[in-house]
Amino acid sequence: MKLRTLLVGLVAAGFSMVAAAQQPMIIKFSHVVAENTPKGQGALKFKELAEKKLPGKVTVQVFPSSQLFGDAKEMEAVLLGDVQFIAPSLSKFDRYTKKIQIFDLPFLFSNPEAVDRFQDSPEGLALLDSMTKQGIKGLGYWHNGMKQMSTNKDVLKRPDDVKGLKFRIQASDVLEAQFRAVGANPQKMAFSEVYQALQTGVVDGQENTWSNIYSQKFFEVQKTIAETNHGVLDYMVITNAKWWDGLPADVRAGLASAMNEATKFSNGLASEFSKRDRQKIQEAGKAKIQELSKEDLAAWQKVMEPVWKKFEAGIGADLIKAAMKSNK
Ligand code: LMR
Repeated sequence: MKLRTLLVGLVAAGFSMVAAAQQPMIIKFSHVVAENTPKGQGALKFKELAEKKLPGKVTVQVFPSSQLFGDAKEMEAVLLGDVQFIAPSLSKFDRYTKKIQIFDLPFLFSNPEAVDRFQDSPEGLALLDSMTKQGIKGLGYWHNGMKQMSTNKDVLKRPDDVKGLKFRIQASDVLEAQFRAVGANPQKMAFSEVYQALQTGVVDGQENTWSNIYSQKFFEVQKTIAETNHGVLDYMVITNAKWWDGLPADVRAGLASAMNEATKFSNGLASEFSKRDRQKIQEAGKAKIQELSKEDLAAWQKVMEPVWKKFEAGIGADLIKAAMKSNK
């Protein structure tokens, strides 16, 4: 009798082990933006490709709009293994590496093409591995675009127009210095809180890409959006280095290949989405889009210039030089 019980138990355990072995691995990709954005679409493409390349082996769950983790928690969640992929803005890595602050220097890149060239250069690619000591592996850069500045005021042309105004910023010391340089009051705040903060007047303004201004409806609660293009907002897709290195080789290769293709796909959408969303904001007629003259732009550039000196030592003068070369 005892032997029979033992045998039945062993067979049952065997079955459940086989079943467990056949269960696809659940992989979570969390992000903070809407689905109708370059990052939102890139994450969905990654899911589609990963599941196609690794049938039955992985299931990718995508969580948009800070549903799973918001800005404050997502990095820790990767390190704790609670989520496998996130794609924070390059402004949100301060705590882990000073070098990535390069992307926040105001007026460093003339346009998204220059950003792309730098990211693809040996110096840019090396930054993907700049946080391995902290357990973070960078898998690629995803584009969003150049940032515009917006406020709840009728006039927004020159730095004087933002003196004393409160601006929401991403968690970045460079962006903090940038707004202090123009005489404004920056406040670090999670992305998911920005709409309400603008609506209730907790802050007067913000800076973001056309895609984020449109998809988060910031244009409904701002009066003027100045076309400053003063900085870039792009992303690094990251994962937990230990988890990644510990994956079965075939799974890692399949995920890497899916990520490369999703990266190309997402990056191919970014400039089209910028144009499309700028147009939609214009058509909505709620916020005025203020174009700026060369003189206006030069005035912004001049007051923001001291920010470069302040962060040069941490970033590295050579890296700044390399980035400047990408402007051609
Ligand atoms: C922001 O916080 O404004 C952006 O980084 C959000 C995003 O992921 O595009």
